[in-house]
Amino acid sequence: MNPDPNSENILAASAHRNPYPYYAALAAGPALVFDAPRKLWIASSAASVKEVLGNPACRVRPVTEPVPAAIVGSAAGEVFGHLVRMNEGLRHDAPKVALQRFLAVVDLDRVQDRTEALALQTAGEGVLRGEALSRWAFEVPVMAVADLLGFDEAELPQVARWMGDFVACLSPLSTPDQLAAASDAASALLERFSDLVQRSAAQPGSALERLQHEAAQSGWHDAQALLCNAVGLLSQTYEATAGLIGNSITALATQPGLLDTIAREPGKLLQMVHEVSRHDPSIHNTRRFVAEPTQVAGVALQAGDVVLLVLAAAGRDPLCNTRPDEFLLERPDREVPGFGHGAHQCPGQALACAIAASAVRALLVSGRLKDAASFSWGYRPSMNARIPVFTA
Ligand code: HEM
Repeated sequence: MNPDPNSENILAASAHRNPYPYYAALAAGPALVFDAPRKLWIASSAASVKEVLGNPACRVRPVTEPVPAAIVGSAAGEVFGHLVRMNEGLRHDAPKVALQRFLAVVDLDRVQDRTEALALQTAGEGVLRGEALSRWAFEVPVMAVADLLGFDEAELPQVARWMGDFVACLSPLSTPDQLAAASDAASALLERFSDLVQRSAAQPGSALERLQHEAAQSGWHDAQALLCNAVGLLSQTYEATAGLIGNSITALATQPGLLDTIAREPGKLLQMVHEVSRHDPSIHNTRRFVAEPTQVAGVALQAGDVVLLVLAAAGRDPLCNTRPDEFLLERPDREVPGFGHGAHQCPGQALACAIAASAVRALLVSGRLKDAASFSWGYRPSMNARIPVFTA
């Protein structure tokens, strides 16, 4: 990618083979750059990204369109409208505390064991590569989180299919057929979560019983919003963790000596996944929508302005992580902007990393990744995610 920040399309960067020289040039430039063709402000240094994420005038949704017009009135729109990720203030704060407390005490050892088992079942026989590997990377994390939330094992492949349909509604490029399938999936998931929540009342200590307990403790009393956010846990997992697994495999294929080190010491896989989530993260950018006049790094922003925060550039900012382009397993004080910052920071980071590390471990120790160095791949077209599509 051309490192000249004026000549490239920021929205194509996450799917580019190597967007990092371009990101470095952007991050070394002014704190905010206006991208006229796309009508976006771009923040890419660690400091400017943090400043925007901490600015209360910069909101997660446009004030005039809390739910994308294409899905308003559908079940997918209902889920979207309740997500903590897409709300501020009262509809965000108590639900966020509940989700955070719930996720903070998840038994990660159990999740890792279940993920390894599901990863092996889903992988089938022989070396996993190409399209089957890409599909597997999507299925395993969402199945692991659905398993954690109490779905029966036999239902997990169906949950993965529903989630594939549901996330299609989150793209501005979705077709009418995709929007209809997304809504069917949202209805089906809401119904299943409603059954599971009822069942969980008789299962003290089950995940959904704990989530309801945390909701009550934090003053969140909207039962339908809780169901929508349970669906949200699956959707937040789906693409981002598939990307983390995929980018971990491409790191094994490209970082000199890494495959040998990890094959010898699989105990270092979690460290590896942490470094991947900084060095080559799966979520490259997020957006904020300016609700009222404000300033960022001395630049005046007006209501209606949109800011694109390049989290992947911030993770390579030398003021955030020293020797940023090097892939270091033992990196002291690693900062990972790819999981966000401030009020909307991801509460699922530890869970995502545990799942990704266990999934890769399952392939590695069972001999299904031994040819990683010969894999080839491109990237899924996306305006914000970096998800490898393995072709061989
Ligand atoms: C590699 C995997 C993941 C990545 C890279 C990731 C990244 C992010 C980022 C960047 C945000 C903040 C977005 C913003 O401020 O605009 C976020 C929010 C969120 N994530 Fe994750 N995430 C991942 C996995 C997960 C998982 C596994 C869960 C839970 C099961 C989860 C739950 C959430 C929730 C609930 C929010 C909204 C928080 C809020 O708005 O307060 N994420 N995630």
